[in-house]
Amino acid sequence: MSAGHILALDQGTTSTRAILFRAPDLVPVAVAQQEFPQHYPASGWVEHEPEDLWQSSLAVMREAIGKAGLRPEQVAAIGIANQRETVLVWDRRTGEPIHRAIVWQDRRTAAACAALRESGHAAAVAAATGLLIDPYFSATKLTWLLDNVAGARAAAERGELAFGTVDTFLLWRLTGGRVHATDATNAARTMLFDIRAGRWDEAMCALHRVPASLLPEVRDCAAEFGLAETALLGAAIPVRGIAGDQQAATMGQACFRPGMLKSTYGTGCFALLNTGDTPVASRHRLLTTIAYQLGGRRTYALEGAIFVAGAAVQWLRDGLGLIREAAESGALAARSDPAARLYLVPAFVGLGVPYWDPEARGAIHGLTRASGPADFARAALESVGYQTRDLLEAMRADMAGTGEGAVLRVDGGMVASDWAMQFLADILGLPVDRPVVRETTALGAAYLAGLQAGLCPAPEEFAQTWHLDRRFTPSMPEAEREAAYAGWQRAVRRTLSGVA
Ligand code: G3P
Repeated sequence: MSAGHILALDQGTTSTRAILFRAPDLVPVAVAQQEFPQHYPASGWVEHEPEDLWQSSLAVMREAIGKAGLRPEQVAAIGIANQRETVLVWDRRTGEPIHRAIVWQDRRTAAACAALRESGHAAAVAAATGLLIDPYFSATKLTWLLDNVAGARAAAERGELAFGTVDTFLLWRLTGGRVHATDATNAARTMLFDIRAGRWDEAMCALHRVPASLLPEVRDCAAEFGLAETALLGAAIPVRGIAGDQQAATMGQACFRPGMLKSTYGTGCFALLNTGDTPVASRHRLLTTIAYQLGGRRTYALEGAIFVAGAAVQWLRDGLGLIREAAESGALAARSDPAARLYLVPAFVGLGVPYWDPEARGAIHGLTRASGPADFARAALESVGYQTRDLLEAMRADMAGTGEGAVLRVDGGMVASDWAMQFLADILGLPVDRPVVRETTALGAAYLAGLQAGLCPAPEEFAQTWHLDRRFTPSMPEAEREAAYAGWQRAVRRTLSGVA
């Protein structure tokens, strides 16, 4: 493999990062990051300003190249990983969005989703897309935009508008409006894509009243996506990799073999179990999704999605003011009375797998006069472990054998907390492996671009570069583990909407 540099852009829900990697060993050499504002125009609504997504992306890419001391023409390729499902629609002529981006967490289409379920569409949606009908996915958000922005539907029908997830919007801007494309992993999250055939699904588009002219072309994750405009980054750097952030992390964690499992703890938590070339239909309300598409071949995954993980720690910091920095949460939790058992069900934006209850809202169970900040911190960190256990239970039920001999590879900001990772191992009853490189999302995006550029080796060889930082081994007695988990399940039951 020859040497070179690859720029990975990780456009996430609360911040945008760029990491410059040295190829072929993919050692990070420079990092730049920017947070951007969240907009909550109504209860359960979450929006991003498209210019924030674009300007922060451009700024961190420029900064990372500068920090690495490279000339732009020394960057061989760009790889993009992005928050998934978030919807943008823009004018093809001017490139101007018709509305703010509607973020994946946004619940405004809960009633529309309920109506679709009640009209009996769930089975057809699951068969084609692998998804459940929930506001989480792009389709109902796109329909909302077409129905609620003045003139949008008529303009879409005239072919004047373009739809995209964040990758597509950034690619459009980077290429000066020359390329309207996405990759198979992002397409798989729209609820408009046939994940088995690997193409937009006409029946789904008809169901959601989405004109085909809005849709981007779908490519492999490692592909030629187009050249960045020279004026933007100082050179016409080719975009050669795109994947949804969770799928990028799956590759960054080198989960290339069936049975391999990773979980990423960012704003939410997303666990993906590689199921190989078979799309496994879940009987336990997991999602069937595309893990990656390389050389036209799709590899599938079962996915468990939790909407609030790191966001619960953010709430401790910003909502309650109990900590100044997220990193303090583990030390505070460790001071909690071990005999106390407070359960935080962080249904701030409803609940995902396996409950799928968009109307549920957060609750705390088990408060006593003695409950204090340490118990809240512990309950927040433990809620992430309990929710991961919910996912694992569903995976075990769907795929007999998952768990025996299995290991969970973890990444994302929260995994820095040894306390949280030990609790995770304890409550799962499974070893939890934390890798040396924790920027697995950016690493996965860089790998895709490096693969396409001929700078990185095939997956099995790349997998040899994954190195363990620390394994957390379960040490909680089984009876304690099961009693604690049963308490969590009771707390969730009391939190679901429709339960008094
Ligand atoms: O499906 C949503 C997911 O892609 C968001 O990831 O890392 O921005 O919380 P993150």
